[in-house]
Amino acid sequence: MKTSIVGLAVVLQLAAQASAQDGQSSPSELENYWSYGRSESVPDTPVAKGPGDWADAYQKALKLVSQMTDEEKNNITYGHELTTTGCSGTTGSVPRLNFPGICLQDAGNGVRGVDMVNSYPAGIHAGASWNRELAHDRAEHMGAEFRRKGVNVALGPVVGPAGRVASGGRNWEGFGSDPYLAGALAAESVRGMQQNVIACVKHLIGNEQETSRNSPQLLEDSHNQSISSNIDDKTMHELYLWGFQDVVKAGAGSVMCSYNRINNSYGCQNSKVMNGLLKGELGFQGFVVSDWTGQHTGIASANAGMDIAMPDSKYWENNTLAIATRNGSMPEFRLDDMATRIIASWYKYAEIQEPGHGIPVSLLEPHKLVDARDPKSKKTILQSAVEGHVLVKNTADALPLKKPKFLSIFGYDAIPPALNNVDDSSLGGWSMGLQNALTYPNGSSVDNGTEQYMFLSSTSPTARGPGVAFNGTLFVGGGSGASTPSYIDAPLHAFQRQAYDDDTFLAWDVLSLDPFVNPASEACVVFINEAASEGWDRPYLADPSSDKLVKNVAAKCSNTMVVIHNAGLRLVDEWVENPNITAVIYAHLPGQDSGRALVEVMYGKQSPSGRLPYTVARKESDYKDLLEPVVTSGTENEYYPQSNFSEGIYIDYKAFIRNDIKPRFEFGYGLTYSNFSYSDLETGVSSNANLQYEPAGNRTENVEGGLEALWDVIASVNCTVSNTGKVHAAEVAQLYVGIPGGPPKVLRGFEKRTIEAGEKEHIQFELTRRDLSQWDTEKQAWGLQTGKYSIYVGKSVLDIQLHGILDLS
Ligand SMILES: *[C@@H]1O[C@H](CO)[C@@H](O)[C@H](O)[C@H]1NC(C)=O
Ligand SMILES: *[C@@H]1O[C@H](CO)[C@@H](O)[C@H](O)[C@H]1NC(C)=O
Ligand SMILES: *[C@@H]1O[C@H](CO)[C@@H](O)[C@H](O)[C@H]1NC(C)=O
Ligand SMILES: *[C@@H]1O[C@H](CO)[C@@H](O)[C@H](O)[C@H]1NC(C)=O
Ligand SMILES: *[C@@H]1O[C@H](CO)[C@@H](O)[C@H](O)[C@H]1NC(C)=O
Ligand SMILES: *[C@@H]1O[C@H](CO)[C@@H](O)[C@H](O)[C@H]1NC(C)=O
Ligand SMILES: *[C@@H]1O[C@H](CO)[C@@H](O)[C@H](O)[C@H]1NC(C)=O
Ligand SMILES: *[C@@H]1O[C@H](CO)[C@@H](O)[C@H](O)[C@H]1NC(C)=O
Ligand SMILES: *[C@@H]1O[C@H](CO)[C@@H](O)[C@H](O)[C@H]1NC(C)=O
Ligand SMILES: *[C@@H]1O[C@H](CO)[C@@H](O)[C@H](O)[C@H]1NC(C)=O
Ligand SMILES: *[C@@H]1O[C@H](CO)[C@@H](O)[C@H](O)[C@H]1NC(C)=O
Ligand SMILES: *[C@@H]1O[C@H](CO)[C@@H](O)[C@H](O)[C@H]1NC(C)=O
Repeated sequence: MKTSIVGLAVVLQLAAQASAQDGQSSPSELENYWSYGRSESVPDTPVAKGPGDWADAYQKALKLVSQMTDEEKNNITYGHELTTTGCSGTTGSVPRLNFPGICLQDAGNGVRGVDMVNSYPAGIHAGASWNRELAHDRAEHMGAEFRRKGVNVALGPVVGPAGRVASGGRNWEGFGSDPYLAGALAAESVRGMQQNVIACVKHLIGNEQETSRNSPQLLEDSHNQSISSNIDDKTMHELYLWGFQDVVKAGAGSVMCSYNRINNSYGCQNSKVMNGLLKGELGFQGFVVSDWTGQHTGIASANAGMDIAMPDSKYWENNTLAIATRNGSMPEFRLDDMATRIIASWYKYAEIQEPGHGIPVSLLEPHKLVDARDPKSKKTILQSAVEGHVLVKNTADALPLKKPKFLSIFGYDAIPPALNNVDDSSLGGWSMGLQNALTYPNGSSVDNGTEQYMFLSSTSPTARGPGVAFNGTLFVGGGSGASTPSYIDAPLHAFQRQAYDDDTFLAWDVLSLDPFVNPASEACVVFINEAASEGWDRPYLADPSSDKLVKNVAAKCSNTMVVIHNAGLRLVDEWVENPNITAVIYAHLPGQDSGRALVEVMYGKQSPSGRLPYTVARKESDYKDLLEPVVTSGTENEYYPQSNFSEGIYIDYKAFIRNDIKPRFEFGYGLTYSNFSYSDLETGVSSNANLQYEPAGNRTENVEGGLEALWDVIASVNCTVSNTGKVHAAEVAQLYVGIPGGPPKVLRGFEKRTIEAGEKEHIQFELTRRDLSQWDTEKQAWGLQTGKYSIYVGKSVLDIQLHGILDLS
């Protein structure tokens, strides 16, 4: 397929120049990272004005900040180590004016590393649910828990990584590999979260791999730089910035700048990204906080648009910024703007008098128990867990299970890990057992086969070695996105309860990789997982010992069902076509209600309603250049690792379609226990759509979400979806659009509806100007294409039920 990626030639040329110049520099010349930035410089930092519903908060903030000394303003721009609370980070305070400071705490899947909280389904699980309302409610309840703990800023949700690298270690923290889906669910999450606390959307931007994301930190005396994500302007807008635009429109109060470099300039000092794109073009009104230790320069990072340095700052402490405003190296208005953005977000979303009061410094010391849980959240936690399960194979209606007489359960993933939420402060803080095990790529508590936590960890995070499975049921991934469960309702527990109800005889062996299978088994359910964590990219997309376990069971049981708890996409071609394997479920990362949710689906109390938010290939090499992270090696690349995003927006399903590769399970795919038919496609341009509209000017500063006109609904697509099966079930109707000059299909709408058997529903998709536009690099504006747009409505990107045309000529 012919593609036009405007600006790509330029980015490649630019990267070539950069690497040529960098190659000649000696490491000692690199003290001043700023001067080596190759990203375009945007020196003017937009000053937030607090439009719309920010007005009150800004008024109050301006008043408070006007009473502060420069030293006091400076004080709240960086993290201070406190002996009173144990937040992931806490800004300075202004005691004289009763501003208590701000507590920031991990992360987007529940409050991390404290007691008396719940573990929610992870981002990828919410993504697989394709349910806006649930995403909203999940975030609202989660935010309430942060609030009850005294947290001002919850460090989530995630829209970057955007899922570019198939083996990316943090893909599970986001909602999937499509910007429209991720942006929609992230915006709902921000709205939900900010009922109670400030959301922090991360990571701005291009943090698509863990490998070399933070080289200087890994090796203190190293001159190595972090990976540079070289992204052309069109790709930036149409893919990586897309979700950030949605969350800014939704009122996001904070954004986290990333560890990696973008066009060779660090995320937390990249003025094009922060001043230009985020604050200028998107009109962001909140504050930008560095990823932890992601600050590499002093005044330059403030001038580039960063507002808070975490968890401390060897650059901004001791009144450095206050002094800089006096000697002219930083404008006074910048320091005022930093303080005002911080205080305004605090007033608007999280005015808490005792920040961090529920987050003790150490769980090992006696501490006040602050119960952050609310029974009202239970329904949402369970339902979010249910809807992220994706059924991808179901031969001859093997599922749902119907009061089986004899059921066998296998696999290490069916039970809770031997150590679940035990604190281990020797690992530098509050990571719980699971997180610890997953955080170390060498698996220090791991020794291949006998280890307590993990088996078969690769010794090098970048080697294509053995896969990584977690010894115990996987309900969340590792690192800062991990959450802490109140309990873990493991699959085996839930099946035990169901066995009681159904008088089922249950047999199990969850230790052996080649278990005895009682021939009386009506069905055999095998539980495996595929683990991932912040800090390392996945060495493999399918753990071989888990594959072996599945094959061993399938060889002895003609009704074998496989449940995979997967922190990212997982290949299944080793066994998926085996006729003895009758059902396969991607169970993702359901949080603490894992078993209960699975039983809902496997016993047909609810029809499965999840859909894959990524593409599952038949073999690793089908992901081509997007399989593995870029690894530091060779002379050119040694100190300045480069990752050219030369595929443009063609990641995941767009790449598969362009390369004409048939996936195993395509983006959007998932089965239910019913059948749906589609009819009555209507497409039309709205009567009030101004198709001739030309955006005036580039800097849309202080209009949240960018130019208002981008959000005008200019067209609609309607259809009817009928449940023609026997049970009530939810369908996810998906709208794909072929924008002239772009990929043949991009997701531009989804509607999830629960429909009774025999009933039908009218479904309407609304298309905004941005949805139908492409980024014009010359005009620096979104522009509609004239001509005919192909419209596809279907059950997945490849299972198109209705095809029409939207004429914009
Ligand atoms: C990166 O470089 C490309 C090519 O010059 C340009 O299109 C893009 O806007 C740059 N992005 C940033 C953030 O500097
Ligand atoms: C990035 O692109 C430039 C220009 O094509 C090329 O010279 C360089 O080798 C590429 N770098 C990597 C790591 O692929
Ligand atoms: C700066 O913040 C710290 C930590 O909250 C506080 O102890 C100190 O008094 C603050 N300094 C000023 C000048 O307000
Ligand atoms: C701040 O002061 C401390 C104590 O004197 C010193 O160790 C540190 O280097 C100073 N930081 C800066 C940025 O000047
Ligand atoms: C201004 O002050 C800052 C912070 O102390 C310092 O880093 C910088 O070198 C100073 N610049 C001049 C021109 O004195
Ligand atoms: C694994 O890494 C951890 C953290 O870097 C280190 O403490 C430990 O010694 C390592 N273990 C092995 C077996 O290399
Ligand atoms: C696991 O242990 C076995 C035997 O002790 C050894 O042969 C194998 O190389 C080990 N594998 C890994 C990945 O360490
Ligand atoms: C997994 O953990 C269990 C304890 O729950 C332990 O008995 C078993 O040996 C471990 N298995 C492996 C393969 O490490
Ligand atoms: C399927 O299972 C039966 C046992 O029920 C076994 O005899 C047969 O070999 C298995 N087939 C495959 C393809 O593994
Ligand atoms: C730094 O670069 C050198 C030279 O390429 C390489 O050997 C080393 O592994 C790199 N270190 C890190 C932490 O990336
Ligand atoms: C779609 O349906 C809505 C109301 O249900 C209607 O307002 C709109 O005009 C319809 N669009 C088309 C293209 O028919
Ligand atoms: C937007 O900016 C570009 C250069 O950055 C300029 O060429 C163009 O004319 C501007 N467009 C508008 C509509 O102002």
